[in-house]
Amino acid sequence: MLVGLQYGDEGKARVVDHLAAGYDVIARFNGGANAGHTIATSDGTLRLRQVPSGVLHPRVSLYIGSGCVIRLQQLASEIEMLAGQGIDLAARLTISDRCPVVQPAHFLSDRRDGGRIGTTGNGIGPCYAELAARMRGGERSAFQLRDLMLDESRVFEQMAQLASQHTDEDIPGLIKEMRQAWQVVRPFVTHNPVALLERVEGGARVLFEGAQSVMLDVVQGAQPWVTSSHTLPSYAYVGGDLPCLYHRKTIGVAKAIVSRVGSGPLPTELGAERSEAYCADAGREGRGRADEAARFDPRALLAQGDAFSTGIAIRMLSNEYGTGTGRPRRVGLLDVAQLQLAVRQFGVDEVYLNKSDSLAVFAQTRDQCIPVVVGSRDGNAMRVMRFPAFDESVIPRDDATPLPPQLETLLEWLADVLGRPLRGIGLGPQRAQMRLFKTQP
Ligand code: IMP
Repeated sequence: MLVGLQYGDEGKARVVDHLAAGYDVIARFNGGANAGHTIATSDGTLRLRQVPSGVLHPRVSLYIGSGCVIRLQQLASEIEMLAGQGIDLAARLTISDRCPVVQPAHFLSDRRDGGRIGTTGNGIGPCYAELAARMRGGERSAFQLRDLMLDESRVFEQMAQLASQHTDEDIPGLIKEMRQAWQVVRPFVTHNPVALLERVEGGARVLFEGAQSVMLDVVQGAQPWVTSSHTLPSYAYVGGDLPCLYHRKTIGVAKAIVSRVGSGPLPTELGAERSEAYCADAGREGRGRADEAARFDPRALLAQGDAFSTGIAIRMLSNEYGTGTGRPRRVGLLDVAQLQLAVRQFGVDEVYLNKSDSLAVFAQTRDQCIPVVVGSRDGNAMRVMRFPAFDESVIPRDDATPLPPQLETLLEWLADVLGRPLRGIGLGPQRAQMRLFKTQP
């Protein structure tokens, strides 16, 4: 079981990709096409939204559990994109027939109304809400894949009906696309509610891959700035179709620089409200990486020394732009107090820390220290600890080179205050740029 410990985008997919060889099945249990999972390989970057991240390991099976919502067009195009790269999912991917289907009415209303929350516009919230509502105007309004299996014509007609209020949209066109996509997805759907359990009973090892992260959980996160599914590890044993009897351990993935897309609290945000408003405007206007690269020099920004400029520089140097949406992510300091609570509250056994190399940007700041947030006094001023920074040039490029002592000190301290072992750190996006620790660093 693996989950993100912050606000999403911690690099869970690359850790899953790294661990996948030790498992037989990689399974999703929540979310849908809102997730953007990126795996950097020597052949290029693979971007996934609904297919689990173990895809590059041909021996590993993939399972999409009933807690996930399915956007048929997106899933079909992912399956086809992978086939185009020579990755055939035919004997590898299984999808629960209990997964709710994202309807045109869902993604159209999410695009219309989701702006204030800053949703990804994939219809996630409306789809989960519909499932809970079950009926509208005396008719069934939520559909699972099993309904499509039973009578696809009736279900697609009903979906068209439910979307008819969107008079500006080409609903028949959207339904046609969905019908075509369904033909691609259908062969992967199973009626067997114990399909995954049977694999486990036969000795298979499963790694659940959480989408989004604990701070975006629909109940525990800060409403309304959350996603609409349960992102917590225990939900894997609901949406992942496996009894909790089989739980072994929870792996948490965090990132050394915190980031968030969309609105909502980010207490350690560099530049606070100014950064939030700036990123919201940029997202609305479709400005992202290219725009910032054309306008700013990150080194000059770092030399200015104010938090807002430092935030932009860190975003540029550590490439913090949305995988799915390209939006600039809001960036903040590592919030260790938040991590301590998450680790304790959600029962995390061990931790990975991605983007540890990003901390090198602090060598270019005036005080050349890495600030880390360790708590708030009276809920107001943040308590910050400062660690000596290390230069980019001393980041190891191979496993034989030792870590810079400044980073090692910080990591030892972090494992100590979290009370959990650090199993690995990211030192760059590539597969090889991951340093693993058998013992503590
Ligand atoms: P939704 O999940 O599309 O409804 O979006 C709700 C909130 O969750 C928005 O702030 C999104 O930016 C955020 N969100 C959804 N999926 C992800 C993800 O995979 N990574 C980071 N944030 C996400």
